[in-house]
Amino acid sequence: MPTILITGAGRGLGLELAKQFAAAGWETLGTVRDLAKGAAMPRGSQTFLCDINDRASLARLARDLKGKPIDVLFCNAGMYGKRKQGVGTVDYDTWAEVMRVNVFAPMACVEALVDNVAASTRRQIVMMSSRMGSIGANTGGGEVVYRSSKAALNAVTKSLSVDLRERQMTVIAVHPGWVKTDMGGGGADLTPEQSVAGLKKVVEGLTPVSNGKFFNYDGTEIVW
Ligand SMILES: NC(=O)c1ccc[n+]([C@@H]2O[C@H](COP(=O)([O-])OP(=O)(O)OC[C@H]3O[C@@H](n4cnc5c(N)ncnc54)[C@H](OP(=O)(O)O)[C@@H]3O)[C@@H](O)[C@H]2O)c1
Repeated sequence: MPTILITGAGRGLGLELAKQFAAAGWETLGTVRDLAKGAAMPRGSQTFLCDINDRASLARLARDLKGKPIDVLFCNAGMYGKRKQGVGTVDYDTWAEVMRVNVFAPMACVEALVDNVAASTRRQIVMMSSRMGSIGANTGGGEVVYRSSKAALNAVTKSLSVDLRERQMTVIAVHPGWVKTDMGGGGADLTPEQSVAGLKKVVEGLTPVSNGKFFNYDGTEIVW
């Protein structure tokens, strides 16, 4: 059975990803910042205490995994920051924090676990981006903090897809839709179950041809 490691697996989309991959028989590993949150993880899955913003914590995770092959590294954890930041309302401290969590941490996760992914059969890395990070699809403007963080994550994804190609890896970004989670809010379009059902199909269908692409949860491609 393939193995998936999901960051931020204690709630929201990360937890639903853990539930659906575990139910499908995948060996499911998840990171949480607080072990109490891992209590919700599905039976048979394994929860690791790890702060993805802390290089030492990531190095400990890599050590604990003891070279275990990871077929899919799903960098899911992320934050929005204060809403409606634009001209005159930018809080630069929270912008820095959002960049740290949404851009630096996923890259650091890849740095820490790239050998585990390389040792697997599938060799796939999935970055949880957002359509709001697409420059080509940005007709609405606004939300400069969240948008710029996911645009930067997209740039990281694209570069990794080129850099890790020689190690036969597939690196993609995904948009989960607008989903009813703590981040998405109650008025969102999709339930986590609906979004993750689509994301799971995207992951299961990945081939080397998918490398360097940005997929919506329904499998359609999104312009970078
Ligand atoms: N919901 C949507 O509509 C939507 C749309 C587009 C993209 N996304 C993306 O989907 C991903 C998951 O979002 P969600 O909707 O499930 O949101 P959520 O319910 O707010 O969950 C966020 C997850 O990220 C983790 N996280 C938040 N801040 C963190 C930090 N500073 N350091 C480490 N981990 C942190 C949380 O862990 P803790 O429990 O420890 O806080 C939690 O596991 C994010 O990358 C988000 O940008 C969501």
